[in-house]
Amino acid sequence: MASTYPPLAKGAHVDSMDKYKSMYERSMKDPEGFWGDFAADFHWNKKWDTGDDFHKYNFDLDKGGIHVSWFNGAETNVSYNCLDRHVKAGDGDRVCFFWEGNDEGVESVTTYKQLLDQVCQIANFMKSQGVGKGDEVTIYMPMIPELPATMLACARLGVVFSVVFAGFSAESLAGRISDSSPKMVVTCSAVKRGAKHIELKKIVDEALAILDGEEQVHVPRVLVYDHKASGVAREAIHASLVEGRDVWWQDVIGDQPTECEVEWVGAEDPLFKLYTSGSTGKPKGVVHTTAGYMLGSAATFKYVFDYKPEDVYWCTADCGWITGHSYVTFGPLLMGAKQVLFEGVPTYPTAGRCWEAVDKYNVTIFYTAPTAIRTLMACGDEHVTKHKRTSLRILGTVGEPINPEAWRWYHEVVGNSKAAIVDTWWQTETGAHMITPLPGATPVKPGSATLPFFGVEPALLDDKGNEVEGVGQGYLVIKRPWPSMMRTVANDHHRFEQTYFSGYKGYFFTGDAARRDEDGYFWILGRVDDVINVSGHRIGTAEVESALVGHHVCAEAAVVPVDHPIKGQAIYAFVTLMNGFEYPPEESVRKELVAQVRKAIGPIATPDVIHWAPGLPKTRSGKIMRRVLRKIASNEEDQLGDISTLADPGVVQVLIGLRGK
Ligand code: WT7
Repeated sequence: MASTYPPLAKGAHVDSMDKYKSMYERSMKDPEGFWGDFAADFHWNKKWDTGDDFHKYNFDLDKGGIHVSWFNGAETNVSYNCLDRHVKAGDGDRVCFFWEGNDEGVESVTTYKQLLDQVCQIANFMKSQGVGKGDEVTIYMPMIPELPATMLACARLGVVFSVVFAGFSAESLAGRISDSSPKMVVTCSAVKRGAKHIELKKIVDEALAILDGEEQVHVPRVLVYDHKASGVAREAIHASLVEGRDVWWQDVIGDQPTECEVEWVGAEDPLFKLYTSGSTGKPKGVVHTTAGYMLGSAATFKYVFDYKPEDVYWCTADCGWITGHSYVTFGPLLMGAKQVLFEGVPTYPTAGRCWEAVDKYNVTIFYTAPTAIRTLMACGDEHVTKHKRTSLRILGTVGEPINPEAWRWYHEVVGNSKAAIVDTWWQTETGAHMITPLPGATPVKPGSATLPFFGVEPALLDDKGNEVEGVGQGYLVIKRPWPSMMRTVANDHHRFEQTYFSGYKGYFFTGDAARRDEDGYFWILGRVDDVINVSGHRIGTAEVESALVGHHVCAEAAVVPVDHPIKGQAIYAFVTLMNGFEYPPEESVRKELVAQVRKAIGPIATPDVIHWAPGLPKTRSGKIMRRVLRKIASNEEDQLGDISTLADPGVVQVLIGLRGK
């Protein structure tokens, strides 16, 4: 039996299991009442329709197309609710960002009123360029206050934004731009991340050069923020500015008026799209809409982190991922929170950076990923214990299953056994936390995301698609819509329906498997599709394979996950070379293949291992048996199972012979 820890947050919004249960029950029986009450704190230009019109959906492909809508008929604006609402309430002088730059001592403080002014200036510039409601903008920026400000400027105008993580390569960025046809790309001269300098503007130039041949894609404007702290001078970049296309942020934003009327948008108008990897094909643009996403991100921020006005909150995620959308930009600002915005990495300049900043700002709520926790744990307790950390009361984790050892270290060492741990399971697709403890109510068990959030009805299905009742395990599905769920895949509603709704009729399929224990707690077991979770980031095996075969020496590639002590999972690639190569080939071939993947996707997709494969284990019909490859990759060839269906069982021994070569 796993040990159970009592809920630690005192005086929480939800302070008992009874309260959780009654709120959960209401959210199930009366979604309109539950979400309508929560929505009352926000500003609506037009109220929603009530009764049957409030919320509509179809989750069953046998009954027609999949669709979901909430707060039908309502009009609002997320940017207004994040900024104007607080300023009008007299909170303009409240701090929204304590920005901590990559290098120590590089910092700034922004208030809600200052952010509102800046957002209006950015929005006014966009308007002056003819960018308006329904248009798209691609954002490729590091973690500086101008990044969330640009997201909010877009939201203010009803412009659909797509943030591309500034660690993706030019080719990845080009793919996302091409899928969006943005009217503007917003970027930055360069960034320093840890000890590395990355020239972002140059990557944007490369991406746009790749797209030069594509007729439909024409980006008329590139707005470039001169990021002085990056160490790359404006003069060094200036010559690369394309006349008529590129402008310096500092030359055009500061003169704009600090007032800009918001564009009221419909509840179901798109707010943003965010590309994420799946099991097949290119990354898909997950589309989130306005009202449901707004309420989902705000409600989870309030209840899961037990947010109160006196808190100082810090989430280490980058705005290039969904965590940075929901729990840096939107959830916290919607609730009027004070937060630390961090540009750097947790280990730079030392492994004590986070705890030093926790003391500096008196951070009360800290949210990070298991991979960061394990990295810091490996650096030694002394980096933690030399800082006080007495302000911490809630510690969150997200991105991958957290191993109980890392969980205990987070709880006992970082939190001094006093802070509540919230292990939050959710996805880019879900928009907000789905299965998570509430820190004042839910007794927690290390490694379990525990129970569903309000409005969320998870279920487990067996191989035949039947629901597993009580204790057991199966495919994790969601039985009904929740407000912050994705509405479609950009430009491809069919793919949305096929990916999430065709496997099990009537359910949203998450791609994860899970186990339910005797207390009804969920334990996430990980992905069951061909998605690898590297340091909490999703990488599709198909994407890495396609990058590898993009190199002229590679005839075929098969990529599988292997367990990794820090990253959770790592990428392990089996590669068949073109005829004429000897195995193993010269070392330079491996280097070129790795470089190819970094070029096509980005450093996060770097394979840890390239395993030479004169042949791959295939069935007679030519299907690669990944199960066999996984066992070989994990040194578990004693557990290969039945390989009699292989066209050539001999390849297995050849592969084992080439391990480490
Ligand atoms: C996948 C979603 C949601 C923000 C970060 C990742 C895994 C996420 C947990 C958790 C176990 C988790 C799942 C999920 N995952 N949180 N607390 N415990 N697994 O977003 O890139 O959309 O990835 O991350 O496998 O399906 P994402």
